[in-house]
Amino acid sequence: MDVLVTGGAGFIGSNFVRYLLDTGDDSVVTLDALTYAGSRDNLAGYLDHPNHRFVEGDIRDRELVDDLVADADVIVNFAAESHVDRSIGGAEPFVSTNVQGTQTLLDAALDADIDRFLQISTDEVYGEIHEGKFTEDDPLAPRNPYSATKAGADLLVQSYRETHDLPTLITRTCNNFGPRQHPEKLIPKFIQRAANGETLPVYGDGSNVREWIYVEDNCAALDVVLREGDIGEVYNIGSGVELSNLETTEKIIEAAGGSEDQIEFVEDRAGHDQRYAIDATKTKALGWEPEWSFEDGLEACVDYYLGDDE
Ligand SMILES: NC(=O)c1ccc[n+]([C@@H]2O[C@H](COP(=O)([O-])OP(=O)(O)OC[C@H]3O[C@@H](n4cnc5c(N)ncnc54)[C@H](O)[C@@H]3O)[C@@H](O)[C@H]2O)c1
Repeated sequence: MDVLVTGGAGFIGSNFVRYLLDTGDDSVVTLDALTYAGSRDNLAGYLDHPNHRFVEGDIRDRELVDDLVADADVIVNFAAESHVDRSIGGAEPFVSTNVQGTQTLLDAALDADIDRFLQISTDEVYGEIHEGKFTEDDPLAPRNPYSATKAGADLLVQSYRETHDLPTLITRTCNNFGPRQHPEKLIPKFIQRAANGETLPVYGDGSNVREWIYVEDNCAALDVVLREGDIGEVYNIGSGVELSNLETTEKIIEAAGGSEDQIEFVEDRAGHDQRYAIDATKTKALGWEPEWSFEDGLEACVDYYLGDDE
């Protein structure tokens, strides 16, 4: 299968490209604009892989995208502006890449007659939930600019399914952690700060709950959905591991070294969603199960971010 992976030099995308090249014989083209969040280093050891080609470029560049899509059987769209705090500071690049960029890819996919278009989305599009878990049938109610643009992209994808019969799939995944995540994100940032004896700034009272999945488990789920998922469907990918931000911070201190005295409660994020939780029954019915515990994943992260691993 010829796979076009956009955003494949970022955190999850690079782990997914590695996963594809390690586990199968697909030909993979990675398209990435190498924003502050992307790096060739994330694909170190795979840039010269015989089944892989890296292209530096933008998903909003229709001419380039047309060229690449012409040779692809499937498209997996990870490319996005992904940091909530940055979207609160300025939403323009989020609208531009996450919505307009997705539309450019969808139009190119239509013209090229591809087999499958997998849109990588997030549990954040459902908004917050105080009890229970969101299923794929729940309405979208995003509460910050980042998740609003991801929801906008999901709706566009679904509209191309309905109006143009484009063979689309959408995955909505909970918070990922693992190697090659940008250090602006909570787990890599806190591992490094804990080990260096720096303060650990926790939003509000630390009670906000997130569901955490190790990136390798997410990649395995994405691969299953890409190959086995029913066209037109949405799949939630969750681990069932729910932790408050304070609990996550305490576990990081335990794993990376440091002390609870480093915890500093800071002014809460504007519009901070209290809790995310998704029901992954539908993805599990495709034969996937998460394999990593939070603690084992965290240990692997500590090795990676503190330099004991590649
Ligand atoms: N990280 C998570 O916990 C999480 C959870 C659920 C869903 N997601 C989704 O997964 C995807 C990947 O997230 P991530 O954490 O790896 O993000 P990331 O910020 O690490 O990577 C994004 C990548 O996209 C590239 N990119 C940005 N704009 C581009 C453009 N216009 N054209 C081409 N490339 C561009 C960047 O250079 C970067 O390599 C995103 O769509 C995100 O919404 C992430």
